[in-house]
Amino acid sequence: MDPKTLQTPLEQVIIFTDELATQGGWHGEQLKLAFAARGVSSTFASLRDCLLDFSGLKPVIRIPQCEGVPQAAFVRGIAGGSMQQVTTRLNVLHLLKRLGTFVYNDAHAIERTVDKAMTSFLLLQAGISTPPTWVCESRQHAHQTIRQHLKSHAQIVIKPLFGSQGQGVRLLHQKTPWPLPMDNFVDGVFYLQTFVEATHDYRVFVMNHQAKVAMRRTGEHWLHNVALGAKCERIIDLDVLNIATQAAIALDMAYCGVDVIRNKAGELQVLEVNSIPAWRGLQSVCEINIAELLVDDLLRQLNGTTV
Ligand SMILES: Nc1ncnc2c1ncn2[C@@H]1O[C@H](COP(=O)(O)OP(=O)(O)O)[C@@H](O)[C@H]1O
Ligand SMILES: [Mg+2]
Repeated sequence: MDPKTLQTPLEQVIIFTDELATQGGWHGEQLKLAFAARGVSSTFASLRDCLLDFSGLKPVIRIPQCEGVPQAAFVRGIAGGSMQQVTTRLNVLHLLKRLGTFVYNDAHAIERTVDKAMTSFLLLQAGISTPPTWVCESRQHAHQTIRQHLKSHAQIVIKPLFGSQGQGVRLLHQKTPWPLPMDNFVDGVFYLQTFVEATHDYRVFVMNHQAKVAMRRTGEHWLHNVALGAKCERIIDLDVLNIATQAAIALDMAYCGVDVIRNKAGELQVLEVNSIPAWRGLQSVCEINIAELLVDDLLRQLNGTTV
């Protein structure tokens, strides 16, 4: 895109990252370069280092290395922590938005997607195909659901509600030791989902409700996360792009990475929507610079244009 078409007054952007020690890591560096190419200087900060100062006449959010309220913030990472710490970090994003910062993705969008149960609800409510899912705290209910399901299906997937990168995603089958171990991955909530047998799945990047770039991910076994070593191939499949776009619209995401799978009957289903998606795997199989796509999209949305 011609930088001149982006008539943005944006001079400085905050990139929130939990990788301060490595200058934002690979993704942070890509973003910094892409912002610089548009004449925008960027500063890395961690949400955990922000100060909510409510001692004066007006509320102030103090962000290291940043004077006043930033015009825009790119959320690349939120460090994990206790419930109270994560709530405070999300509050920084909520409050910045209230003070006028354009937050990409904003805290509400992050909350809608970081919680897989909320995502499942919103997808189903919007009529977007997603595998049948059950969520409960009760072990008794979980056991009943699993037993019932395993009568007619060979396997069922169990995931951490707030997981990512395939960590803790497991398959349960008739031979799984019983009762289920209450380990760290379950963490008090059972998120159970019908297993979709597939040799690969898809990751689609959707920005401003338009699918921009997609890939097929092929893992060694049934987990197709890039973080677990899946092979990536760029694809252009309109049906895949379309269902991912529908998911992004249903969850009203400024941008997102949508995971899509095709079942044996050929039907596409949305597995999850990521509000802070990595793109190193996708970048490795496409020529288009994804950080620049994101930065241009942020600038367009900041300016309120829909080009
Ligand atoms: N219901 C399912 N059926 C088959 N495979 C699944 C299912 N849910 C997840 N997977 C596999 O596990 C991977 C990780 O699951 P996902 O829901 O995307 O969680 P994460 O946030 O850990 O990436 C998916 O990319 C897919 O390969
Ligand atoms: Mg995923």
